[in-house]
Amino acid sequence: MKVIDSIAEFRKARRALPGTVAFVPTMGYLHPGHLALMERARREADHLAVSIFVNPTQFAPGSDLDAYPRDPEGDRKKCEDAGCDLLFMPTPEMMYAPDHATVVETEGLDQVLCGPSRPGHFRGVTTIVSKLFNIVAPDVAVFGQKDFQQLAIIRRMVRDLNFPIEIIDLPTVREADGLALSSRNKYLDAQERASATCLSRALAAAWHAYQGGERDAEKVLEVARNTLLESVSAQAIDYLECVDPLRLTRYEGDARQIPDAQGAVVAMAVQVGKARLIDNLRLDGE
Ligand code: PAJ
Repeated sequence: MKVIDSIAEFRKARRALPGTVAFVPTMGYLHPGHLALMERARREADHLAVSIFVNPTQFAPGSDLDAYPRDPEGDRKKCEDAGCDLLFMPTPEMMYAPDHATVVETEGLDQVLCGPSRPGHFRGVTTIVSKLFNIVAPDVAVFGQKDFQQLAIIRRMVRDLNFPIEIIDLPTVREADGLALSSRNKYLDAQERASATCLSRALAAAWHAYQGGERDAEKVLEVARNTLLESVSAQAIDYLECVDPLRLTRYEGDARQIPDAQGAVVAMAVQVGKARLIDNLRLDGE
């Protein structure tokens, strides 16, 4: 595995690879969720490229950028073991010139769900992912369904800007008790860690309601909300919504009846201690 921190060097190493490249962009502190993406990516192309970059432009000023957990040595080993060929670990200075002025924005999809609480976040994501796509020039890129809004936005961006890249998504990898793996779970103390299972329990409750025949989105959400409220306060729930997975439009009001074969998703963000946790589930999934 080649570990490369310069853009020019990376382009050179990329061009020297014969065949196709699959790419997994990450912010590091790698866990089995990231490794599942790498394993899949390795099967999709001749070579695997991974990036580790804690992207400052997707963090709001005063948010957890400095506290974001990092483990470059451990990550390097995990990438090597995962069969990575090229590991790109640039510095913020390399990725952003001081007079950096160009952004990529996917309008509309960034205004719902996590959008209102994290202004500018998705613009930071689409900008860095575009830059990484231009540097890595992959044939395939693999993303997790865990960040379901990010995935919808990246799919739309790839289509709108004609990136010649196939986007593959993979289901959320979870702990045995259901908690979605996340680098931010590190912020949880023992008691918060126990409460944090309320997200996956709420999703399971919503799923059971839907699978039991409930098609009124507001009733499905009420079941989920009641489960959350067993563990957290109402103020801790940033949002809890039932949306269409591609357009992210809500099933509510007159349109609250969930049509069959649309793959409605229940998505939520909940503050547990210092961690803002997100999770989601397709109601028509297994
Ligand atoms: P990061 O949070 O490190 O996640 C990198 C990739 O891993 C994303 O595609 C994310 O959806 C996926 N992932 C995270 N937790 C997962 C889990 N439990 N199961 C399956 N996949 C999981 O997402 C980012 O970084 C950044 O926004 C990035 C796209 C790299 C741009 O900076």
